Amino acid sequence: MRIAHFSDPHVLALEGVPIWRLVTNKRVTGYANILLRRAHQHRLEVVRALARDLSDQKVDHVAVTGDVSNLALETEFEAVRELLEDDLRLPPEDVSIVPGNHDRYTRGSHKARRFEGAFLPYMRSDIAMPQGVARDHYPVVKLRGPVAIVGLATGVPRLPFVAAGEVGTVQLRALEWVLRQPEVASRTLVLLTHHPIAEPAGALHAWLEGLRDADDLRRVIDRCPRGLALHGHLHRRMLRIVRTGAGEIWSIGATSASLVHSAGTRMAAYNVYEINDAGEIGRVTSRVLDTRSRTFSEAPVPVLR
Ligand SMILES: [Fe+2]
Ligand SMILES: [Fe+2]
Repeated sequence: MRIAHFSDPHVLALEGVPIWRLVTNKRVTGYANILLRRAHQHRLEVVRALARDLSDQKVDHVAVTGDVSNLALETEFEAVRELLEDDLRLPPEDVSIVPGNHDRYTRGSHKARRFEGAFLPYMRSDIAMPQGVARDHYPVVKLRGPVAIVGLATGVPRLPFVAAGEVGTVQLRALEWVLRQPEVASRTLVLLTHHPIAEPAGALHAWLEGLRDADDLRRVIDRCPRGLALHGHLHRRMLRIVRTGAGEIWSIGATSASLVHSAGTRMAAYNVYEINDAGEIGRVTSRVLDTRSRTFSEAPVPVLR
């Protein structure tokens, strides 16, 4: 089977949003940031072109690893829904989506479960979790052929300029339960989180931007003999091999799907993963935007040591 993966489109849609919603609470810093630089880089027409190219590739499933919006506004989630329906043109059961820190930008958007409300059809789980094990939709589990796609929410509202994520004890416990189920354990794990499960960086950087309980998450998946851990957040195309007690998991990042960037590994792209019927992971490639021809062409995903 073939799984495509894109991330971080940061769709901006401010039309009809009253200015008071942008200049109160945390959004004021995000809005200022957009006015200063972001709007010039993240382009809706780029992610729409990417979705159309992906649609032509005939993949079996598409994973979207968060930061679909900029300010967690209803208008932005609506624009992303349109993108999925009109450009990607795949039924919700063939698409998995998890939130990023921008999709839970404010406490209000998190409390109202705005992201989950907007993408509910894409979050139908194939496993009924016993009462008390899971909360708020996650983990979302989709059993597809040789893989079990498991989506977690790592985005949490933070103070301005802090983008760190967290899985939290409730999701960690629920994930442990999920991984014990025979229909999951017998398949290859495809884990979706916005924040990377492994990112060697300085303590301050990790505190500001990393996944704060990444060690706990890696402990939970330590018995997996193989798998993919797909993420966004870094806006960079990369593959890092994470050793587990039973084998290895490939942690793979996608670039921002809307970002026109001078660096090749940061240019708007999506990744494609091939997995055979036995659940073995095969080719990992990217399709990257060429701004001159406005087309997408194949490129490798750099392996980081
Ligand atoms: Fe992002
Ligand atoms: Fe992010």
